[in-house]
Amino acid sequence: MLNWNVRSAHKTNTSSEDYRRLVTIYQETLNSPEIGFFRLPENRELLKQSKDAYEAMKHKKYFIHIGIGGSALGPDMLLKALGDHSAVHFAFLNNIDPDDMKRSLSQVNLKEAVVYVVSKSGTTAETVAAMAIVMNEMEKCSITKDQFKDYFVFCTDPEKGDLRKLAKDWNIRTLDIPANIGGRFSVLTPVGLFPSLFAGIDPHDLLTGAQDIQKHLYDPKIAESFFELGLWIKDLHDQGVNQTVMMPYSSLLQEYSAWFTQLWAESLGKNGKGLTPIPAYGATDQHSQMQLFMEGPSNKIIFLIEVENFQSDYSMRNTVDAEGFKLLAPFKLSELMKAEREGTLAALQENKRHVVHMKIPYLKEQYLGQLILFSECLTVLIGKLLEVDPFNQPGVEAGKKYANAWLKSHS
Ligand code: PA5
Repeated sequence: MLNWNVRSAHKTNTSSEDYRRLVTIYQETLNSPEIGFFRLPENRELLKQSKDAYEAMKHKKYFIHIGIGGSALGPDMLLKALGDHSAVHFAFLNNIDPDDMKRSLSQVNLKEAVVYVVSKSGTTAETVAAMAIVMNEMEKCSITKDQFKDYFVFCTDPEKGDLRKLAKDWNIRTLDIPANIGGRFSVLTPVGLFPSLFAGIDPHDLLTGAQDIQKHLYDPKIAESFFELGLWIKDLHDQGVNQTVMMPYSSLLQEYSAWFTQLWAESLGKNGKGLTPIPAYGATDQHSQMQLFMEGPSNKIIFLIEVENFQSDYSMRNTVDAEGFKLLAPFKLSELMKAEREGTLAALQENKRHVVHMKIPYLKEQYLGQLILFSECLTVLIGKLLEVDPFNQPGVEAGKKYANAWLKSHS
């Protein structure tokens, strides 16, 4: 089971009345009908939708994922962490860089591809652009509009938006992003579940893992350490500790850090408040950002994630007569990772840095599911404590408005 441990000299002092009030407000939020992410683990209807669509498309050799922000980062995280990339080639069209678009499209055979267009609103310019380009490329391969239903799968709001309308007109199979779930909280909907199936990831186990966290938050004893973590973060935030580093000691969790960055930044950065998320991963970032984390301004909370057991390992045995080689010879690669992680943890504590040491037993569906729901729940808790709405993104919308105005005035 995922667990977490605060390693810091900073202690919070909350009255039991304030604590009880926080728990009540928080539980009301999670149970409110407008907020859907917390109840996703038991929504097996969305899993069924994803499986049915997979059955219809599983012969495809290429998977093109079109989407941006919350509509792309979650699936990207799942695939990087757990995906088997041997059977299906994945291409993520998640930006509008023409050179990158060309490179991605040159690596797929559209005739053998499923094109998954993910957009809650159905109007996001980057997503619409990629879809238009793919349709033009399809035309070049003699795929006609009446054949689109054999290639496209859409994922969008159950009722609203241009994608939903197009799906009806073109008879495209369409999966739901429930109306009460926003992009960055949507990874456990068909947004992430459908691509998972093509990558050999078990979506059922992901949801079971998320359910474990759900149950834990109902267990007052375990929930206590969760609420204490939230209060501790809020307290530090108020004292100017307003940056968070997410640093799993795993290359495969690199995209988890990217996903968390969006979740945390877009949910909490409002009204002059928020904690700037810094993505990192160990051991690589020990040779990069760690100097700053260790001896730079003491304004950071460092989430250090340990994967307790790797599923592969290598011996470093060798007979090279040189100090560096001799030092490593008796050990396995995972033991070097352990030494580096423990060393960094000890040094951070010695430097009086604020660390949260998190652990998962293995990098497997169930534990990633736990990490996902835990991260979402913590984000919402901090939103409550900072008194910001974690579910909107007015700043992003403002940027979109100006970009659209520019396009209109230049057309
Ligand atoms: O988390 C969010 O809500 C955003 O990052 C959206 O996912 C992103 O802007 C894409 O929006 P849409 O899914 O409507 O295309």
